[in-house]
Amino acid sequence: MNEEQFSLFDLAPSTEPVAPKVPKDFDPSLIPTSAKIPIPIGTYESMEQMSQHCNQCHRCDLGANRTHAVVGRGNPKAPIMVVGEGPGQNEDETGLPFVGKSGQLLEKILAAVKLTIEEDVFICNVVKCRPPENRTPATDEAEACKGYLLEQIRMVDPKIILLTGATAMKTLVGIKQGITKVRGQWVERDDRLYMPIFHPAYLLRNQSRDQGSPKWLMWQDIQAVRDKLDEIRAKSPDPS
Ligand code: URA
Repeated sequence: MNEEQFSLFDLAPSTEPVAPKVPKDFDPSLIPTSAKIPIPIGTYESMEQMSQHCNQCHRCDLGANRTHAVVGRGNPKAPIMVVGEGPGQNEDETGLPFVGKSGQLLEKILAAVKLTIEEDVFICNVVKCRPPENRTPATDEAEACKGYLLEQIRMVDPKIILLTGATAMKTLVGIKQGITKVRGQWVERDDRLYMPIFHPAYLLRNQSRDQGSPKWLMWQDIQAVRDKLDEIRAKSPDPS
């Protein structure tokens, strides 16, 4: 991305993931206790190990009301990661992301271009605990949880990351513009391709399929994602 594009997106360069400095006597069991304790890149060996921390985490106030931390589902080595905002009631109850109406729609959208959660996709959220009344996570909550998300990106190592909605877009690539302006555009960072797309909940509130409608635009975007995955696989035909 050149300087002009950079300023167009109003990007905050400081959002690039930077490994925090780890003191020599660092105790990883302290990670879930306070957002002031860093989550160094390379802390976790598996999603299960990370999930144990998430389920005892009080880095922000969201931990106080959770039933389950909602860490992720899908192929842990998927080429595509979908990042949502935060768990809703169904997700809090089951411990699994995108299992409510939004999740059903997301699965349909992926299936329309022959992508499955079992094989091609890993799904997670910016915050792992449900915000009260399903409100948007606050910036400090997203920041407190961000280290877990960066660890998930490192472990899954996806080529493509779909950012559903403004919270995911702001947290991971620092774009603060409205999703309508930037959806469908690829953003390259650290050898990965990010695409902001509409959140499925927004599509549920906007049912029109007319040309230019949110659903129609999503169809364009998901086809572009399919094409990009095929292009990447053609260049390097390894399993992921
Ligand atoms: N369910 C999730 O898990 N995440 C969202 O962002 C919305 C619904």
